Amino acid sequence: MPDAADRIVFLNGAYVPLADANISIMDRGFLFADGIYEVSAVLDGKLVDNDAHLARLKRSLAELRIAEPYSSADWIGIEEELIRRNSLTEGVIYIEVTRGVAERDFVYPPDLRPTVVAFTQVKAIVASPLSNRGAKLITLPDLRWARRDIKSVALLAQVLAKQTAAEAGAAEAWMVEDGFVTEGGSSTAFIITQDMRIITRPLSTAILPGITRLAVMRLAARENLTIDERPFSVVEAKAAAEVFYTSASNFVVPVISVDGDPIGNGQPGPLTRQLRDIYIDFARGEESP
Ligand code: PDD
Repeated sequence: MPDAADRIVFLNGAYVPLADANISIMDRGFLFADGIYEVSAVLDGKLVDNDAHLARLKRSLAELRIAEPYSSADWIGIEEELIRRNSLTEGVIYIEVTRGVAERDFVYPPDLRPTVVAFTQVKAIVASPLSNRGAKLITLPDLRWARRDIKSVALLAQVLAKQTAAEAGAAEAWMVEDGFVTEGGSSTAFIITQDMRIITRPLSTAILPGITRLAVMRLAARENLTIDERPFSVVEAKAAAEVFYTSASNFVVPVISVDGDPIGNGQPGPLTRQLRDIYIDFARGEESP
């Protein structure tokens, strides 16, 4: 596996060493955060739930009216080539598409050629110390725009929230609006009530439609677990039996404290551990969602 600095990345149709992958300062992704992204997990050298990620990529592009640069088959080919060239066995593939390069103007010219970037990141997702010991999280006001269902690269509010969390010794920040948790800085928020109901916020423009969220909900339903899609408050989360969050880059992460208050006995909860194990089996291809 090459060192991170020696990775081969994808830029506008070519596979190039990271050091040679350069983008114009007039790229609208840089100037306006005018672009979208996707993150898919790679486990045992294979993409996890990738069709769903590519479907969301297409949806994000359509919402911003950025022309689709590639077909699904092309995207898969690019991802598999990056896995191969970088000998990636476990980690993530990041894809970004921006509206392209143009003289700086809020209004964009027609027929811009999108900028496409993709790269691999090595990460131990299954043997994760964070998931073994459980994550601390903090809550903060949700400062984001109104179209959080689009996986836009405009992530400043999340950068600030997750930096605040890191400085407080926490792994994730949950964002709160009108008294209810929206989602994590880069994850979907779940609680499990004392009567063992799994609660997560329903999809809307207030949150990203998490791909891991949907798979976990389907897998939980198959185990005859009860799932309620409804908003929940920070007070309810602190009183929950278990708390967890999901994302492509971490799968299912148990939460052991919220704003310093321990959840349950302050250890990862048993049902969360079970959901994590079931999800890992699914990610390994032993289950379909
Ligand atoms: N983030 N909500 C937000 C705001 C996210 O950024 C993410 C993922 C999720 C979980 O979605 P999924 O299960 O499809 O990964 C929810 C990625 C991992 C990132 O920004 O790195």
